Amino acid sequence: MADIISVHSFRGGTGKSNTSANLAALYAMDGLRVGVIDTDIQSPGIHVIFGLNDDEAVYSLNDYLWGRCAIQQTACDVSYALRGTCKGAVYLIPSSVNAADIARVIHDGYDIDLLSDGFRELIQALKLDILMIDTHPGLNEETLLSIAISNVLLVVMRPDYQDYQGTGLTVEVARELEVPRMMILINKVPLTFDLEQIRWTVADTYNCPVAGVVPHSDEMMGLASHDIFAVRYADHPIVTELRLVAKILRS
Ligand SMILES: Nc1ncnc2c1ncn2[C@@H]1O[C@H](COP(=O)(O)OP(=O)(O)OP(=O)(O)O)[C@@H](O)[C@H]1O
Ligand SMILES: [Mg+2]
Repeated sequence: MADIISVHSFRGGTGKSNTSANLAALYAMDGLRVGVIDTDIQSPGIHVIFGLNDDEAVYSLNDYLWGRCAIQQTACDVSYALRGTCKGAVYLIPSSVNAADIARVIHDGYDIDLLSDGFRELIQALKLDILMIDTHPGLNEETLLSIAISNVLLVVMRPDYQDYQGTGLTVEVARELEVPRMMILINKVPLTFDLEQIRWTVADTYNCPVAGVVPHSDEMMGLASHDIFAVRYADHPIVTELRLVAKILRS
């Protein structure tokens, strides 16, 4: 059985897409076959981190949801983004960056059941060990579905009071949806903070295990989502922490 890991946050910009891409890369470096699906249909972005060009993706998730192709036809092999460190494989299922497609999905919606069917078909067709779902912030329909069908939910938050409240809501909703495992990743922690203290405070506040605490990094900011951090800075302490997170999520 493949693990389905959803990466979510209540508020935007917490680091979901970069975290999803890095975790996917770390799993593939360990020899696993990983799918990464961009369910952020309103504001797609993770394809940029993998360096996927527009002309490489013949079909997007939107095409599948509109019945134009099978889900496996949307999968792009982006293992090349790991530049020789990939022992498994990474497949990206991008969302369309065509303005008309985005407008259509917002206006007309789609059959949400197709999304869960697609997740399952993809796991089978590509023989995936892991499916990572990069979500849109907030609690919309596809996010709720992604959370509900996951084995593991990773909630990403910054140490910011607006995030604290939103994370509380997400954790509550996920409990109602009976997600088997939920963990929190605290990201972009200022270097002046005590990392261990924040870990315990957050775990205690939400009564939820903390998978990792990732400091703010100028190198990550400087990379500007133009590469996979774990590939570019393999020996960076953040990558060591993300490796631990990757392990904890599957243990
Ligand atoms: N630990 C970190 N230190 C510094 N910058 C970071 C860190 N994590 C992520 N970032 C930066 O934060 C920005 C937002 O990251 P990302 O796109 O991954 O967030 P997101 O949660 O997916 O956003 P959205 O909600 O818009 O989809 C990017 O510029 C990324 O490089
Ligand atoms: Mg994102």
